[in-house]
Amino acid sequence: QPHVHYENSQLHVEGCSLDALSITHGTPLFVYSKASMLDALAAYQRGFAGRNARICYAMKANSSLAILQLFAKAGCGFDIVSEGELARVLAAGADASKVIFSGVGKTRAEMACALEAGIGCFNVESEAEIDVLNEVALGMGKQAPISIRVNPNVDPKTHPYISTGLKGNKFGIAHERTLMTYQRAAALPGLKVVGIDCHIGSQITEETPYLDAMDRMLDLVESIEAAGIPIHHIDFGGGLGINYNGDTPPAADALWHKLLGKLDARGFGQRQLMIEPGRSLVGNAGVCVTEVLYMKPGEQKNFCIVDAAMNDLPRPAMYQAFHSIVPVKQAASQSSGAEVFDVVGPVCESGDWIGHDRTLQVQSGDKLAVLSAGAYCMSMSSNYNSRPKAAEVLVDGAHSHLIRQRDSFADQIRGEKLL
Ligand code: LLP
Repeated sequence: QPHVHYENSQLHVEGCSLDALSITHGTPLFVYSKASMLDALAAYQRGFAGRNARICYAMKANSSLAILQLFAKAGCGFDIVSEGELARVLAAGADASKVIFSGVGKTRAEMACALEAGIGCFNVESEAEIDVLNEVALGMGKQAPISIRVNPNVDPKTHPYISTGLKGNKFGIAHERTLMTYQRAAALPGLKVVGIDCHIGSQITEETPYLDAMDRMLDLVESIEAAGIPIHHIDFGGGLGINYNGDTPPAADALWHKLLGKLDARGFGQRQLMIEPGRSLVGNAGVCVTEVLYMKPGEQKNFCIVDAAMNDLPRPAMYQAFHSIVPVKQAASQSSGAEVFDVVGPVCESGDWIGHDRTLQVQSGDKLAVLSAGAYCMSMSSNYNSRPKAAEVLVDGAHSHLIRQRDSFADQIRGEKLL
């Protein structure tokens, strides 16, 4: 993981020791590298050099305000999926005109709020949504800028829960119905067609699904424009994977070199492009530091019980996802005393595990770092078992900033009332 390394046997994120940070802020603690996020963004920016392209960070991956602020300052737009995400983007000081609004279930209230804020584009996902958005916009005396999200029916070859561009998924409008849907939308006075959109899945580690989806999208753009409806921008969604466990996704700039080659060959090279990357910008910029509470040897399994759990790191429980787990302080001798453990949390469910069959040399009181924890960890965390949400620190060289304090008990019961 870039910007995460041992120095004098102590694990560091950039110039900050994780042991020191966790003594100051407690555990479980998320620690992010600012340089790593900006490097990941730079790979896309290099890929798009000289092009008319906008990178809209899919903030569901990690929606903490300071991280949004970082990407806003670096010139990004944002892909949002709720009114809450819009409120966060605005609270982080970002420009509403660079916001695109995805999702199959936008409410009327959310549409009105986004129109009021003046967002750049609604990515609409159904014919029913088109009618409602038209009505809401007309009621406000406005025109809603829209793209239609197309379901290109390509297999992203990823976990079934996170593939989105197949016929059986709830997302987007079927390829065959796209042209007629554009014709309907273009005739509605409350809507203004500005683009076309697709997003085929997440943690994609091959380039073929992207190249296939691109061909299908460009076929559609040709037929929609032939019907007299101009498409100003083409949005290819997000989904590029990261290395969790020896995965070898293409680099963002290399992937886009190929995709742009295809766009150029088909005469779309100067079209405005948009993308919606989430995980690939933040996933490998974060770690979660956790303290070992108890060692529990067993007949069939040895358990290493830590103070982080499925409420902090839901990906293993939800997707059987793999995250590397490494010691915060390297052991003096590498091999002696190492044993195989299931690393589990304190939550009262067997599904509460963070890693299965991990070889570790640990004892209670030691600290471990769960790697690649920058995306879809904090943003999917919960208060299950009335556990507080963890704290978050952003590291910038030798400096660290507490960007979210740990939940207090008062935070947890705010808004609740006794009978
Ligand atoms: N655009 C749309 C419309 C999306 O639905 C998503 C992710 C993205 C962009 C960003 O995709 P990314 O670049 O991050 O792959 N919780 C799951 C991942 C769910 C992804 C949902 N949609 C996980 O932890 O693996």
